[in-house]
Formats: sequence, C-alpha cells, structure tokens
Amino acid sequence: MAKPMVVVTRAVPQAALELLAAHAAVDVNAADVGYTPEELISHAQSADALVTLLTDRIDEPILARCPNLKVVANVAVGYDNIDVAAAARRGVRVTNTPGVLTDATADFAWALILAVTRNVVPADRFVREGRFREWMMMAFHGSELAGRTLGIAGFGRIGAAVARRGRAFGMHVIYASSRRAAVELEEEAGAHFVDKATLVASSDVLSLHVPLNASTRHFLTDADFASMKASAFVINTARGPVIDEAALARALTAGAIRGAGIDVFEREPAVDPALLAAPNTVLAPHIASATTETRTRMALMAAENVIAVLAGQPPPNPVA
Ligand code: DGY
Repeated sequence: MAKPMVVVTRAVPQAALELLAAHAAVDVNAADVGYTPEELISHAQSADALVTLLTDRIDEPILARCPNLKVVANVAVGYDNIDVAAAARRGVRVTNTPGVLTDATADFAWALILAVTRNVVPADRFVREGRFREWMMMAFHGSELAGRTLGIAGFGRIGAAVARRGRAFGMHVIYASSRRAAVELEEEAGAHFVDKATLVASSDVLSLHVPLNASTRHFLTDADFASMKASAFVINTARGPVIDEAALARALTAGAIRGAGIDVFEREPAVDPALLAAPNTVLAPHIASATTETRTRMALMAAENVIAVLAGQPPPNPVA
C-alpha cells in the first residue's frame, strides 16, 4: 500500500522529519522561506497531511485545492493563520503545539522586560562605538522592578509562567483574562485578577499573552496608551495585531509610555517605520520560542499529531 504523503512547508528540525519519514512519504521545503500560495497548492494538492508554520495562511481556497487532506499540524501554539472553521467543514483536523514552548516564551518576555527597563541595547551600542571612556554615575539609568506592578494580559500557560518569574523579581502581579483562573493557580503564580481597565492603568510593566482573535485584535489602542502610566513599559510576545502598532509608536514618541519590548508585529515581517524610529524600544524578529530544545519539541509534537491522524486516531493536540 502506498505511504500517505506529508508536506512540510519549510525547514523544521531534522528529528521531526525523521519521525515523519518512518510513517509517510515526506515532501519538505528545505528552504527557510515559505511557499507562495501557488507553490503551496502545487506541493499540497495530493497531500494527506500538512505540517505548517505560522507564516502559512491555510484558508478555504487552499483547503479546497487539497481534497485528500486529513490534518493540518501547525508548528506553533497560536493558530490564527488557519481557518479552523473551514477545516472543520471539510473534516480536516487542525492541531497545535501547546505547553512545550511555555518556558522559552516566558523567558524571552523577561529578556525583553530586562533589556528595555535597563537600557541593555543602547548600552551595548555605546560600548561598541568606543564611547565608554570612564564609569558614569548619571548615565543609562533604568527602572527597578522589585515592588513594581507586573500586569499580564491573558493568563494561559505562558501568561502564568511570566507571572511566576515576576514574583521571583519581587513584583506585585496582576492579570486580566477572558476567564478568571482557578484560585489555586492564582495563588501558586502569585497573581491577582483585575479588569482590563485596572490592568492597563496600574501596570508598570504590561506583558501581553492573549491569543489573536476578533476580541483581542487591537487590545491596546490610543485610548489604552493614554490611560497607562507615563513610566510604564509594554511587552508583546503574543501576536502583533493585538497592539495597534501605529498607536504604540505614537505613545512611545509622545512619552505617553516609557518603553516597549516587541517580538511580534502587526504586519509581520513589516514593521511600522514610526515604531522603528520610536525611542526606548527593543525589537526582535518573532523569536520568543526560538531555543534549539523548544523548536525541536514543537516540530516533534506536530509530527506526532500527523502520525496519529494518519493512523486513524485522535491527534494529541487538536485546537478545538
Ligand atoms: C507560537 O507558537 O504561536 C509562537 O508565536 C511561535 O513559536
């Protein structure tokens, strides 16, 4: 019997390809550049399974051209790049990779918090430019974190992990979420539930961890930035469209907030030129989960989801 066909839309760690190859014929785009929709269709039209990245848009027109498809396994916890309802109508399973990237992403949110509150990027540039001539009492003053308020928007696995780290830094932690967490989790993470308005107005550092959907698009707008402390910092490792990027650039430039650490962008990979020019901003190219260990686990998890569906079993990580 012919092996099922799996299309992997761009480079992923080798361990996942080897696992897939034990169960299926694998067509992999080895380049670290995504397929155009036409290229994707030409590879996927007879595929039984797709292993996708968050840069692939899997919508009704693509699904309609792939009649054999049984599963789309996204190598990401977020799956806003997939039309899940359209897939369900066609009986195509959609899976993601929850849990395995929690620590890597929470660590990176903290990398951005520390970098932006302590001027790490401009200080690095200062040394490289040969401008460090003597110790300075009055330069590069940042903001302390102990005793300040860390606000978490979205209290899933990653939000809670960022909260725990905040507690270790001596911060008072508050969170807002569409659903209040269990008391045990609140106590263990040391976080207090508040409404969005309180979160925005009270946070010294506001870190975003909501999934992107219709209710979280532009979660932060001009009005929210206007209600924040002028000393506050905003961190985004969730999805770019959760922030109105032009409004963020305006807030930074006008001094309505003190700084931002941003890993994701509204029209990724494009970045609003006003944000590039804004002061006190640390920018990264969507790398919060990028450790060798985590990216390997994510790809293996996607492979395991594919293998389960191809064997006629329920996938371990369905999204709905
Ligand atoms: C995700 O998994 O959704 C991240 O954005 C990439 O790791």
